Amino acid sequence: MFEVLSNEVLAPDLHRLVVKAPRVARARKAGQFVIVRADIGDERIPLTIGDADSEAGTISLFIQAIGASTRKLVGIAPGGHIRDVAGPLGMATHLEKWGRAVCIGGGVGTAVLYPLVKALEKTGNEITTIIGGRSASYVILQNELKVLSKNLFVTTDDGSLGEKGLVTQVLARLLSDPEQRPHVVFAVGPGPMMKAVAEMTRAEKIPTMVSLNPIMIDGTGMCGGCRVDVGGEVKFACVDGPEFDGHLVDFDLLRDRLGTYREQEQAQNHVQEQAKCKIGRGLA
Ligand code: NAD
Ligand code: FES
Repeated sequence: MFEVLSNEVLAPDLHRLVVKAPRVARARKAGQFVIVRADIGDERIPLTIGDADSEAGTISLFIQAIGASTRKLVGIAPGGHIRDVAGPLGMATHLEKWGRAVCIGGGVGTAVLYPLVKALEKTGNEITTIIGGRSASYVILQNELKVLSKNLFVTTDDGSLGEKGLVTQVLARLLSDPEQRPHVVFAVGPGPMMKAVAEMTRAEKIPTMVSLNPIMIDGTGMCGGCRVDVGGEVKFACVDGPEFDGHLVDFDLLRDRLGTYREQEQAQNHVQEQAKCKIGRGLA
């Protein structure tokens, strides 16, 4: 059992849980993840290790409540427990002193980007961070990332915070400025965003890493659920990734595979909404 020490709402349906997990906190490296189960028999959820304090023996997990299992996890109050936290899993981020690193986070993907920015900065890279969200309330970790970045740009689709538009418009400006042109780019967010970033940097021959979030089950390379195509080769995101060369990833296959269980997920969410309505009526 793993105790939840704090549970903070960062954005609508997005929580940061600090969890006591001393062994994982000691062993983890940036870019790795854990698989958690709220209770016996529950769905296994892969979650990036957002941060770790090896002395305190704690890790931070960013959890977006999108289905029954993730709603159960974000509903655990401080003092409550998560049944299983397995990890650290996956390959650590490949770190080098590249020089100017541009790190791009789209929406919830910013939570996955955060440990990468921390590690890249610690390795001696000069960081420019671009984060975007649908609106102001979906922009997360702005203060934490500002501390680590030489420059931080914020975009929102509706213009309610920072610049109106997409993260890629800031990247386009940086690419055209010889003083700010990156030596490496890291992008984490929705597939279409990472695909757009990779297309822009491919033309400029700038190395670009993306972090993929395919469906995962066992997290140990056994089930094949997290299969992705990278440079025409089959890779398993759980053991070969989750970070890959963005110029080689088949994003269309990733999109199709992510949609495999959409109908079942929608049906399950519908059943839960109906149940809630009935409970509500019963109490009225
Ligand atoms: P969102 O759709 O609200 O997009 C967030 C930001 O990304 C936008 O504000 C915009 O700046 C940028 N963006 C989106 N589409 C773009 C495009 N086509 N071109 C350029 N920029 C674009 O994101 P959200 O709802 O917070 O995130 C949900 C998505 O993120 C899901 O699809 C989920 O699978 C994915 N996700 C990915 C990871 C990962 O590790 N790669 C982690 C968490 C979530
Ligand atoms: Fe099963 Fe990766 S999650 S092979």
